[in-house]
Amino acid sequence: VESVIVAIDGPSGTGKSSTSKAVAAKLGLSYLDTGAQYRAITWWMLSNGIDVDDAAAVADASGKPVILSGTDPSHPTITVDGVDASGPIRTQEVTSAVSAVSAVPEVRSRITELQRSIAASAPLGIVVEGRDIGTTVLPDADLKIFLTASAEARAARRAGELKGADVAATREALVRRDAADSSRKTSPLAKADDAVEVDTTDLTLQQVVECVVTLVDERR
Ligand code: C5P
Repeated sequence: VESVIVAIDGPSGTGKSSTSKAVAAKLGLSYLDTGAQYRAITWWMLSNGIDVDDAAAVADASGKPVILSGTDPSHPTITVDGVDASGPIRTQEVTSAVSAVSAVPEVRSRITELQRSIAASAPLGIVVEGRDIGTTVLPDADLKIFLTASAEARAARRAGELKGADVAATREALVRRDAADSSRKTSPLAKADDAVEVDTTDLTLQQVVECVVTLVDERR
């Protein structure tokens, strides 16, 4: 059995995490949530009093935290300096600061290196989800997927996850974060030329998973 590398990119709320975990579990592959890594480094910056809008300070500190990702799709983990960060990286404070931190080139080069080494050491292959996986991190991936969905659908899904959140406010925050991620200079959110675009607006999770699994099977 040859190892297979699947890159899944797209804006927030398109179903990247649910899809990637389910595809990896179904195919017996490892799983890497690269957004969690950018959230982890952002959480470390905030916890250590680094001004996240000061790109030079963020660049200086970018090599300090030790970030480890567990790649089991049924139980993904993330630690920062040995501390479980899975809860703290999902706070509103981190979500609001992550685009600024992830736009800093020194942060990206460091995290990208980490991602490549994790992908290279996955025994049977890996599903890697993010924003620049197909374009920058793993340009030789066997399959590249670009997930999209209407802003309304994305906001409704995200507001559903954050029980009780206001859909309009959630939509505004999502659109703002995607605009920042798409317009940054270093490896912005973008569809690779050879990626398969899947609009998930009117699809169930199960339908999206089946579609991706079929595409993986066709390529190996
Ligand atoms: O996927 P998630 O919403 O958790 O990602 C959080 C943030 O991390 C994104 O808004 C983006 O700023 C950054 N990110 C990135 N490159 C990736 C994955 C995430 O810049 N490959």
